[in-house]
Amino acid sequence: MQPSPPRIVEPCGPSPVLCGFGGHLPEPVVTNHELATRLDTSDEWIRQRTGIAQRHRVAPGGATSDLAVEAGRQALASAGGGTVDAVVLATSTPDHISPATAPDVAARLGLGPVAAFDIGAVCSGFVYGLAVSASLVRAGVATRVLLIGADTYTTLVDPNDRTTAILFGDGAGAVVLRAGRAGEPGAVGPFDLGSDGTRKDLILVPNGGSRQRSRSARPPVGSDPRDDHVHVVGGEVFQHAVRRMCQSTRNVLDSAGWSLDDVARLLPHQANHRIATAVARRLDLPEDRLLSNIEQVGNTAGASIPLLLARTWERGLLRPGDKVVITAFGGGLTWGSAAISWPSPGPPEDPLGRE
Ligand code: UT7
Repeated sequence: MQPSPPRIVEPCGPSPVLCGFGGHLPEPVVTNHELATRLDTSDEWIRQRTGIAQRHRVAPGGATSDLAVEAGRQALASAGGGTVDAVVLATSTPDHISPATAPDVAARLGLGPVAAFDIGAVCSGFVYGLAVSASLVRAGVATRVLLIGADTYTTLVDPNDRTTAILFGDGAGAVVLRAGRAGEPGAVGPFDLGSDGTRKDLILVPNGGSRQRSRSARPPVGSDPRDDHVHVVGGEVFQHAVRRMCQSTRNVLDSAGWSLDDVARLLPHQANHRIATAVARRLDLPEDRLLSNIEQVGNTAGASIPLLLARTWERGLLRPGDKVVITAFGGGLTWGSAAISWPSPGPPEDPLGRE
């Protein structure tokens, strides 16, 4: 008997479709050689263990919103200009604990009184943000959404900690989603999202939130200045990242009814090149189907996948309709994946997908 084909239920209503990409990296570049002048490390160690050669760092006084505005501006231009109904910002390094950073970004982009809010899912934030933005379109709450992933982890790492200072870089990437038709090039979804809060200790900034205020806001007794910085349990994060991104990719392929052979490219969160290649090996995906930019940018957290999308778009590496999977893992712990049909270049179609 023939196995029955997977049953794909197409949700009704408008379908979310990608129609613009943007990316922005701050000017200052920090090379491995520069880090090796002040830390007990070397260019060779960093390249071999992470695949990173350099990263960008926000200029003194700069903040996440500055990068997000530039990436957002580019994505809007690439989508043919016009306005949006919502701005969603995936970040875990907001300009302030309160308020959210997205309204400031929307205002500086001149977008008027649109809905604007932040999403905090650390390095998985962009995938979570894509699922939320797609849902806004599907539900008819918005016909066009600007989704930005932006982070400035260099402001959170301990410059004296060689295990984290070598990993993180700053940046922002953005996409525009519009209401379109199911199955057209650019269509996004289905999604797979997950979390495991029992291991929040693996990637943690202890100070600054409601549980433990910043050092300046409480008596110095017992305070540890290192708690103002991000703590990462590298080895364990590595193993969880590989396991979760593999399973999440498989889940999304099942939901989409795609086989691994159908996938033109896998775009994994750029945490460590060895994590990405371990994911490919475990999935039995040829390494030449992985896309990567970690060598130039390091781990840019919530900006990692949209920066890679923007670069792929800019370089014309994929054809309209190519099947792409993005997969991410980060603090929380959180993880998520999405299926994407690569969009067509050129002016976007009618926002409601009418022919
Ligand atoms: O987006 C999610 C955020 N987190 C991450 O992406 C982190 C994921 N984890 C990783 O990328 C890797 O675990 C690291 C790059 C952080 C570390 O690589 P590793 O291959 O897991 O190294 P390790 O922690 O097992 O350390 C091996 C050795 C240790 O020395 P001993 O104990 O063997 O003497 C470390 O002290 O390497 C040492 N080491 C370094 N040596 C030179 C750790 N960092 C460095 C360094 N330079 N920067």
